[in-house]
Amino acid sequence: MRNFLKKITHPFLRLGLKIYYFKPRKFCYEGICIKVHPDVFPPHLTLSTTILLDFIKEKKLTNKSFLELGCGSGIISLFAAKKGADVTATDINPTALEFLTENAKKNNLELEVIASDLFQSLPNRTFDCIVINPPYYPKTPKNVKQKAWFCGENFEYFEQLFPQLKNYSTTENEIYMILSEDCEVKKIKAIASKSGIAFAIIVEKKVVGEKNYIFRLTS
Ligand SMILES: C[S@@+](CC[C@H](N)C(=O)[O-])C[C@H]1O[C@@H](n2cnc3c(N)ncnc32)[C@H](O)[C@@H]1O
Repeated sequence: MRNFLKKITHPFLRLGLKIYYFKPRKFCYEGICIKVHPDVFPPHLTLSTTILLDFIKEKKLTNKSFLELGCGSGIISLFAAKKGADVTATDINPTALEFLTENAKKNNLELEVIASDLFQSLPNRTFDCIVINPPYYPKTPKNVKQKAWFCGENFEYFEQLFPQLKNYSTTENEIYMILSEDCEVKKIKAIASKSGIAFAIIVEKKVVGEKNYIFRLTS
């Protein structure tokens, strides 16, 4: 079961996801309900989104500037906005942003929604808190939907992310990234270290037999 669930590349799992997500699906957390388009990263069956939601639930976010880089459904951004943060949600997937804008209106929550390839559309900005749930399977994405899962055969997503992220790291702010034992954590850490970024485990959580880690990133 565990190995089956772990591999998004597994044909049965991919077929199962395709059937389950053939239409927009509802997802709710702490009184926020959203519709998630089939072309957007699904928070329902994956573990990472909920682990991050539970993590930020405990954090004081009132009046803090909060960036979710690669927001997907945007449920984390909406929850941060509900907790009083000044939220910016970005993604490369236009459908994700279109649905997030609609979901924000329906939940009476305000946030800034920006189409951006990593930090490209965020020049000269600073954020008190940055949260990243990255794509981490080393395969080349064939379309924008697959960018939710695949980071490129040679970890291109991370090779581009860390040199940019370094410029958004300050002595005061907090940057968090979730990864699972299912991905090549060592390789990702090694890519980060080329940009002088270090990882410290803040949360370790085992769900359905799979360990997930929230790292705090510092430079
Ligand atoms: C694993 S999903 C996480 C979604 C959401 N943060 C969550 O936790 O549910 C990764 C997200 O990153 C986005 N993404 C991938 N490559 C990106 C890039 N170069 N720039 C911006 N967003 C990107 C994907 O479209 C996807 O929405």
